[in-house]
Amino acid sequence: MTEQKYIIAPSILASDFARLGDEVKNVMKAGADWVHFDVMDNHYVPNLTIGPMVCKALREFGIKDFIDVHLMIDPVDDLAQSFIDAGADLISFHPEATKHIHRSIHAIKDKGCKAGLVYNPATPLHTLESVIDDIDLVLIMSVNPGFGGQKFIHSSLEKISKVRKMIDDSGKDIRLEVDGGINKDTIGLASSAGADTFVAGSAIFNTENYEQTISELRSNIA
Ligand code: DX5
Ligand code: ZN
Repeated sequence: MTEQKYIIAPSILASDFARLGDEVKNVMKAGADWVHFDVMDNHYVPNLTIGPMVCKALREFGIKDFIDVHLMIDPVDDLAQSFIDAGADLISFHPEATKHIHRSIHAIKDKGCKAGLVYNPATPLHTLESVIDDIDLVLIMSVNPGFGGQKFIHSSLEKISKVRKMIDDSGKDIRLEVDGGINKDTIGLASSAGADTFVAGSAIFNTENYEQTISELRSNIA
């Protein structure tokens, strides 16, 4: 999907929302690869964040980078379409948040957008087997979704390894993303387990020098 071997995707959840456009510009200029856009609905997760209008506003502000939308919402389909219209490049959703996973994936892909599936620390991977050939990305949560700044859950490493094997066996070009508690220490563990795309919120936005932090994260990828 993306040629680059490793992708760093700052989660804008940890950015200063009062200065969102500038924050995104600065973090991308500092060497980030994707914008990770966390959408929460106070229903699927106990928190409420930003929607398609904010995605569209970033596009209108001049952000041309790859926008990686992580939907933590139930239901999925209508808002997924709104995010496609708002300029999303990839939309990931949690399989348990939709009744018909295959239909939800193809409703996204039919519009020319990429699609991903997200697995929580306690969500089994069985749904992945049936649709692995249909998706562009698997996202493994290494925290329970809903909040930034949580501690990395180490049992997610085994899940990453399992998915790495499933992806390699499929022979498809599918990215393996990890999200939650990624910092200079945990990025090496996640990459050793097989992840190639790394979301980091507080580890980047809570530092002064985004460029230095992103390059330190990159150099700790195993
Ligand atoms: C959690 C979100 C994450 C979160 C990551 O529900 O999906 O993207 O913002 O934040 P950090 O990197 O601070 O754990
Ligand atoms: Zn996320």
